[in-house]
Amino acid sequence: MTRLAGKSAMITGAARGIGRAFAEAYLREGARVAIADIDRAGAEATASELGSGAIAVPLDVTDPASIEAAVAQTVAAFGRIDILINNAALFSAAPITEITRADYARIFDVNVGGTLFVLQAVADHMIARGGGGRIINMASQAGRRGEPLVAVYCASKAAVISLTQSAGLNLIPHGINVNAISPGVVDGAHWDGVDAFFAKYEGKPPGQKKREVGAAVPFGRMGQAEDLTGMAVFLASDEAEYVVAQTYNVDGGQWMS
Ligand SMILES: NC(=O)c1ccc[n+]([C@@H]2O[C@H](COP(=O)([O-])OP(=O)(O)OC[C@H]3O[C@@H](n4cnc5c(N)ncnc54)[C@H](O)[C@@H]3O)[C@@H](O)[C@H]2O)c1
Repeated sequence: MTRLAGKSAMITGAARGIGRAFAEAYLREGARVAIADIDRAGAEATASELGSGAIAVPLDVTDPASIEAAVAQTVAAFGRIDILINNAALFSAAPITEITRADYARIFDVNVGGTLFVLQAVADHMIARGGGGRIINMASQAGRRGEPLVAVYCASKAAVISLTQSAGLNLIPHGINVNAISPGVVDGAHWDGVDAFFAKYEGKPPGQKKREVGAAVPFGRMGQAEDLTGMAVFLASDEAEYVVAQTYNVDGGQWMS
């Protein structure tokens, strides 16, 4: 399995969860991977557990200087960046009347600004060195429709889908394919946090929301991070050369579009 042999990738938010699973899959396919995360200790632990080919890179996707440094560090280590996965994101939930400007700004800064400006920095690098590249943004089923308690996160992921379309069209003349993956509900620390929000706002005992959403997935269970890795490898591979500006649902049948 060497569909990404010789490639180097930067994956934001890869210290844990889905980003970490992407890093493992890319390493198995022969790529080198920068685990770029605001959780510096987590990124270092993950890189050392994943072993040869993985490096930890400190990154706060909301900080322009940090983005510049992370790209420079990855290029210094690997010589180039062929693949970027914009995976770092935050979740929050609240009824419309309780949304604060601070929470709106925090979520949009990470989920939308982080995606746009890391993409911009890596695209700059890819255009300057020539030869194209692959950029994969992490959207969500939450970006396909509204949810009563999740307005800000849903809007941020709708923005990621839209950015994927505009950046995809703007960058394909440079041979840079920009696409997105839209997961449904994926088990892990992120969803433990989501469950806690619903426990607070819907009065459900901890764990109940998670059981309900899992049972509602047409496939019959919540997703695991590994369920998404096939699409992440495909979109980074040569086979996806003609795939431009798309967002793919990988969600067990939750959403059709
Ligand atoms: N888990 C799900 O059910 C689900 C569903 C749909 C979409 N997604 C999306 O998939 C992606 C990964 O989700 P996950 O479940 O693995 O999330 P997670 O919360 O487990 O991991 C997110 C990672 O992002 C990092 N991060 C947060 N803020 C950062 C910042 N400012 N700069 C750099 N790194 C930062 C965190 O430290 C963490 O390691 C996210 O974009 C999420 O919105 C997840």
